[in-house]
Amino acid sequence: MTQASTVEPTPGSDQASEEALQWMETGRLAELGLLSAELLHELRQPIFSSKALIELMRRKHPDDDGLRVIEAQLQHVQTLLETYTVSSRRTRGRAEPLQLDASVNAIVEMMQPRARARQLRLELRVVGAGEAVMADPTGVRQIAVNLVANALDAARAAVVVTVDGCQLRVSDDGSGIPASLKSQIFDPFFTTKPPGEGTGLGLAVAQRLAADSRAELEWDTGPGGTEFRVRFPAL
Ligand SMILES: Nc1ncnc2c1ncn2[C@@H]1O[C@H](COP(=O)(O)OP(=O)(O)OP(=O)(O)O)[C@@H](O)[C@H]1O
Ligand SMILES: [Mg+2]
Repeated sequence: MTQASTVEPTPGSDQASEEALQWMETGRLAELGLLSAELLHELRQPIFSSKALIELMRRKHPDDDGLRVIEAQLQHVQTLLETYTVSSRRTRGRAEPLQLDASVNAIVEMMQPRARARQLRLELRVVGAGEAVMADPTGVRQIAVNLVANALDAARAAVVVTVDGCQLRVSDDGSGIPASLKSQIFDPFFTTKPPGEGTGLGLAVAQRLAADSRAELEWDTGPGGTEFRVRFPAL
């Protein structure tokens, strides 16, 4: 069996908790950006067709001021679409070599105050020597924050985060995800949490970021708890 070293929970601060929240917000904004990008993409076709039609009508009625205004407005909308599409593309990160255990350790430290506030144990185990992976550093942190946040919401007593080679595992001892909800948990805005507590974007963000980093995301759930596993490409 592989030897596991345990990093004891260290005292954190409210500031660290704040920072963790900010990471989650960044992830949500990124997800909203990508959802908007899909919407923008869909809007392009009707805009293009309308512009082509208006151009034909303008040739027939060169002095029609109304048509000129519509053409100018459509041009304005098209420019806005292009600007937003380009800026939302920038939310996708770049993969680079990074130490998976160091990145995950930083997130676990940030989440300690939240765990303590709920009287839960949050433990990091590093198996092996700590491998370098190829991934977007922001993406890795956002994936870890979202999975740990969910695990802390679900846990009865403890959340264990394991970095094992190129794999990150987050497991809790909660009551698991009901079979009837399994197909929906990755849907953007799907949440079982009360209003104001969950937006339902955490797993959608994590799934999208894992795909961006070409990481494999798997999960298992049962009445004894839930485990999410993310395997990043080795360096
Ligand atoms: N570890 C877990 N144990 C039990 N249920 C979970 C777990 N992780 C996710 N879920 C279920 O999947 C749903 C969707 O999770 P997701 O992280 O996408 O959104 P959320 O946690 O509800 O809200 P947000 O992450 O935006 O704060 C949760 O509301 C919960 O029902
Ligand atoms: Mg969540």
